Amino acid sequence: MRFDVVTLFPELFGAHLTQGITRRAFAGGQVEVRLWPLRDFATDAYRRVDDRPFGGGPGMVMLAEPLETALAAVRAERAAALADAGPPAVVHFTPAGRPLDQAQVQAWAAGRGAVLLCGRYEGIDQRVIDRHVTHEISLGDYVISGGELAALVLLDAVARLQPGVLAEPSAAEDSFADGLLEGPAYSRPELLQTADGPAGVPAVLLSGHHAHIARWRRDQSLALTARRRPDLIARARAAGRLSAEDERVLASLAEGDAPAGA
Ligand SMILES: C[S@@+](CC[C@H](N)C(=O)[O-])C[C@H]1O[C@@H](n2cnc3c(N)ncnc32)[C@H](O)[C@@H]1O
Repeated sequence: MRFDVVTLFPELFGAHLTQGITRRAFAGGQVEVRLWPLRDFATDAYRRVDDRPFGGGPGMVMLAEPLETALAAVRAERAAALADAGPPAVVHFTPAGRPLDQAQVQAWAAGRGAVLLCGRYEGIDQRVIDRHVTHEISLGDYVISGGELAALVLLDAVARLQPGVLAEPSAAEDSFADGLLEGPAYSRPELLQTADGPAGVPAVLLSGHHAHIARWRRDQSLALTARRRPDLIARARAAGRLSAEDERVLASLAEGDAPAGA
């Protein structure tokens, strides 16, 4: 799997690719990342990569020509290095894209990689998008200063799903893995002394009874998801992911009962 990142700020990637649990995937080459500094592909003597928008208006637009040249170079290099790979997916990060979710991350994590285009300023010349982009991805309904953080979010999410990257198969229990939010977690001490008095942990977690703990966690996950994201419950139900016991717990929540141990 190889991601080629076209960016004006390659320096932003270093720390994220070399720190934390995901560095295993990057250092080991499971997820290869190549950075392509866009300024290297500027076509004029001033190494300009942006200019004013036609029609006026605030801000600058990333120029088409350096992006076209960079994309041609990336494609040629990928074709030489990855002989059996077809034309790569080209991702543009933009608030106008499809909001990123775990299902998309899982699909990218099982794929061959992509070319990632990081926008800056007011965005990139539309002709580049029309000619090359196969996927547009948004982080959500807000605006950040550049596509680099969005690219890093995708790379991190993909890297942690690679086999052997997480110490335990904890990704399977993360939020969204089964379509629901993950419930609360506790660690030592059993009794936290606070100014408001001692704060304990749910007794079931100390019971050592694995089936009861698993059921409690599932109930907490259902309760949290029903409270915060009822849309996810509806989707899980439509996908046939809720058991009869899950439905019983949800029905009791609707009647106002807290799940056992909550
Ligand atoms: C300042 S933003 C440009 C926003 C653009 N003028 C607009 O209103 O849609 C600069 C770059 O940051 C990235 N960006 C900003 N918000 C984003 C989001 N929610 N998701 C993904 N990328 C985003 C895009 O690559 C964008 O080209």
